[in-house]
Amino acid sequence: MATIGLIGAGHIGSQIARLAVANGYGVVISNSRGPQTLSALVKELGARAHAGTPLEAAKAGDIVVVTIPLKNYRQVPVEPLAGKVVIDTNNYYPERDGHIPELDNESTTTSELLQAHLPRSKVVKAFNHIHAAELTTDGRPANSKNRRALVIAGDDPAAKETVTHLLDQFGFDTVDAGPLEEGWRIQRDTPGYGPRRTAEELRRDLAAARRYADR
Ligand SMILES: NC(=O)c1ccc[n+]([C@@H]2O[C@H](COP(=O)([O-])OP(=O)(O)OC[C@H]3O[C@@H](n4cnc5c(N)ncnc54)[C@H](OP(=O)(O)O)[C@@H]3O)[C@@H](O)[C@H]2O)c1
Repeated sequence: MATIGLIGAGHIGSQIARLAVANGYGVVISNSRGPQTLSALVKELGARAHAGTPLEAAKAGDIVVVTIPLKNYRQVPVEPLAGKVVIDTNNYYPERDGHIPELDNESTTTSELLQAHLPRSKVVKAFNHIHAAELTTDGRPANSKNRRALVIAGDDPAAKETVTHLLDQFGFDTVDAGPLEEGWRIQRDTPGYGPRRTAEELRRDLAAARRYADR
């Protein structure tokens, strides 16, 4: 049984944990306050799920999801994630995260920041543009008509294949936006950020996205 490690157990982390357990994965889930604060969630998730520290989740996961307020990304453990596929769900909200100059001037993107923090990991951006609640309501079997699609971006093709397979298991088609540096096309306030979209619609949204400075 493959294990998904979760760093972050909030709206998105708990929902990805539910999808993981429902699809036969083991789960080690963590937050900032400690495993003892996750007992109700772990009880709900059942025998395949355990709470741990972020370090334990990072070590245990075959795939690890980072789903925390972006301002805390430097606290993500580095060494245990070396060589692993790391899914990044994070978005930049200056009112929550404080101002990050290289994001304000658009010289980089959120997932490139995480990749720079985790130089030996294979970071794939995913799950950043869907409302948490919809993760467990909008999934459909493969080949369903009008199946909802989600965007990925990443620099490692094999890691992107792994995440595409995971998304398919979770009930979603995938649209590949390209390398991490293209992840801005699905950042906050772009056309594809939030609404339910098929793959075809999402490709149009990515093409129509504009940099903040160009609006
Ligand atoms: N909510 C959405 O619909 C949605 C959709 C797409 C993407 N996102 C993005 O995904 C990320 C997570 O969003 P969310 O809504 O799930 O946030 P959230 O509900 O506020 O949960 C954040 C989680 O991160 C944990 N955390 C904070 N700092 C940590 C650290 N240093 N190490 C380990 N865990 C830490 C928190 O633990 P404690 O509670 O113990 O502090 C909490 O479990 C954000 O970047 C957000 O912008 C959110």
